Amino acid sequence: TGCITMDQGFGNTGSCFSSITFVDGGKGILRYRGYPIEEIAEKATFVETAYLILNGELPNSDQLRVFTAALREHAFLHENLKHQFAGLPTDAPPMAILSSMLNVVACFHPEVLQVHTSGPGFDRTAALLLSKVRTIAAWAYRTANGKPFNHPNPNLSYCANFLHMMFSEPYQEYIPLPVVEKALNLFLVLHADHEQNCSTSTVRVVGSSRANLFSSVSAGVCALWGPLHGGANMAVIEMLEEIRSSGRPITDYINMAKAKNNSFRLMGFGHRVYKNFDPRSLILKKQVDDVLKALNMEDPLLDIARELEVKTLQDDYFKERNLYPNVDFYSGILLRAVGIPLNMYPVMFAIGRMPGWIANWRELHDHKQRISRPRQIYTGETTRSFVPVEQR
Ligand code: CMC
Repeated sequence: TGCITMDQGFGNTGSCFSSITFVDGGKGILRYRGYPIEEIAEKATFVETAYLILNGELPNSDQLRVFTAALREHAFLHENLKHQFAGLPTDAPPMAILSSMLNVVACFHPEVLQVHTSGPGFDRTAALLLSKVRTIAAWAYRTANGKPFNHPNPNLSYCANFLHMMFSEPYQEYIPLPVVEKALNLFLVLHADHEQNCSTSTVRVVGSSRANLFSSVSAGVCALWGPLHGGANMAVIEMLEEIRSSGRPITDYINMAKAKNNSFRLMGFGHRVYKNFDPRSLILKKQVDDVLKALNMEDPLLDIARELEVKTLQDDYFKERNLYPNVDFYSGILLRAVGIPLNMYPVMFAIGRMPGWIANWRELHDHKQRISRPRQIYTGETTRSFVPVEQR
């Protein structure tokens, strides 16, 4: 059995070799396949970023054309899927719908239930997933609001098509302003991968049993849902709303987060790896400002967020523990400006993270990763003898 090393939460355990994403938490560095996040965020579309993460290189114009055409081709959902959506209660959480529908969609395309890790089989499966996840997400929103489904429009870009499926009405087509489309693109690009976080590790753990890609990412969606991970973007906005409506001073909330006699945490603060700053949060903070200005909008939650950040960073508790704003702190304000409803925020994270999950799933196969099977230290009863029910 050997000696067991305890590392709860795997803070210090390397679980794989990977050439996808590099993070240096001390220096606040994030690179996708070697490209700094700052450059990718400024210059790349989400589709280019997805290609880069999946294939290791930025696409040339022919490769981009073929990849874009595949995303276009696979955007449609089978008509029978409408019945699946129709059977759901209108208040079903979109993350529950997304996770379930990923497995359901795969049943309509049995070839994706095979494990393809290279060649046309992999390219097709990856494009199908990247494209259909966006349609499922939009239809989850339409279901929740009792609205008719919008079919994808092949003439639109990845982001514009999603916004069309979300917001077009039978009486009025939704055409996003370029600044809105750009903001959504930025959000997705910034979430595209982040090495061995909770959901990506989940995808790898599930995939290590040789489960197919769709089931593996469906498990990833469930892991992402929690408020300590992808659910944090929604929790941040709820917290900022609560601060605003309560009228209480911000320091009350900071003190509450410091107190150890409750479970309250400042949402959007802290990170397992970044102990200096999260580069994604710096990019978002600046972009949120620019987007609101371009849209001529004001968001009172942004002022509260800024004040909360300043006061928190001055506080010894947060300084000692190296707790800085993470990607989720400003991303919700960007999504509000784009018009995305609150309960869809973690779903938006999931759409963005899809390239990273797919690339990690493929890599674990390429590296022939052993099945994930951690050990434990047993703390239960020692040997006992069975007692018949009448003697208990
Ligand atoms: N507010 C108050 N205290 C905090 C916070 C916070 N947001 N985050 C960490 N701490 C304290 C924690 O109580 C602990 O204190 P002590 O050493 O006195 O017990 C110390 O800082 C270390 O925290 P930890 O929980 O051991 O750190 P972790 O690496 O296990 O957790 C985290 C990382 C992100 C889950 C955590 O910082 C957290 O809960 N943050 C709030 C939720 C959040 O914003 N999540 C999004 C994460 S980034 C993107 C993503 O993954 O989705």
